[in-house]
Amino acid sequence: MRRLLIPCAAALFVTVSATSLVQCKKAPVAATTTADYELVGTVHDIMEEIVDPASDVLFDAVATEITAAGINEKRPRTDEEWAHVEANALILAEAANLLKMPGRKAASPGDQTKSEGPDAPELTADEIQAKIDGDRAKWVMYATRLQDQAKKARDAAKRKDVDGFFALGEHIDVACEECHLEYWYPNDKAARALYEQAKADREKAEQQQQQGGTK
Ligand code: HEC
Repeated sequence: MRRLLIPCAAALFVTVSATSLVQCKKAPVAATTTADYELVGTVHDIMEEIVDPASDVLFDAVATEITAAGINEKRPRTDEEWAHVEANALILAEAANLLKMPGRKAASPGDQTKSEGPDAPELTADEIQAKIDGDRAKWVMYATRLQDQAKKARDAAKRKDVDGFFALGEHIDVACEECHLEYWYPNDKAARALYEQAKADREKAEQQQQQGGTK
């Protein structure tokens, strides 16, 4: 109960009015943050076990496959298939909240964040942790970018909008890559160059589309 009383007393000290009483009721919600939950997994675990599998479902949902048997336009067709895609978009959107939770560690001791070889460009878990702790607002911003795209993908799945959903796949991929370029392999020049090239290509395609649209 102590926790409930402190913010109330503080609110009442400022002004005794109807509004401060309302704030009084709301205050304990903000004050109970970390006690209400337990951080079970690390960022590493969440990537491997939640974010990656959920995003794979989204990336694979709409695709054009060229096989020996011909062209296969892959897309969700039944209500059940759309519901599966929608659910995975929700998993991804909510996973972004897991990433944002204060105190979440980058990795457990012994987790490998680097690829093989002496010149592996990835940072160590400690280096990633230091970057996250150094500017939490930035970390939250990158997680929110992913969340925004996942929410749009969920809406597109609800509408059963194949084209919209396909376009969002690319936006989700960009949100993954931008965070990885910042926190995981900021020294990987080849990855940065690929990202910049893809970005330039996207902007060019968008421009062409706009010009085509105004003709
Ligand atoms: C907010 C930042 C952020 C976003 C957004 C993000 N990641 Fe990550 N991801 C990380 C960091 C940091 C690591 C390296 C940490 C580690 O492996 O311990 C990582 C590592 C990974 C790994 C390697 C895990 C392992 O087992 O070594 C995979 C796979 C991955 N991310 C997939 C994705 C995918 C797919 C997306 C988008 C759908 C995504 N990530 C979005 C921060 C992010």
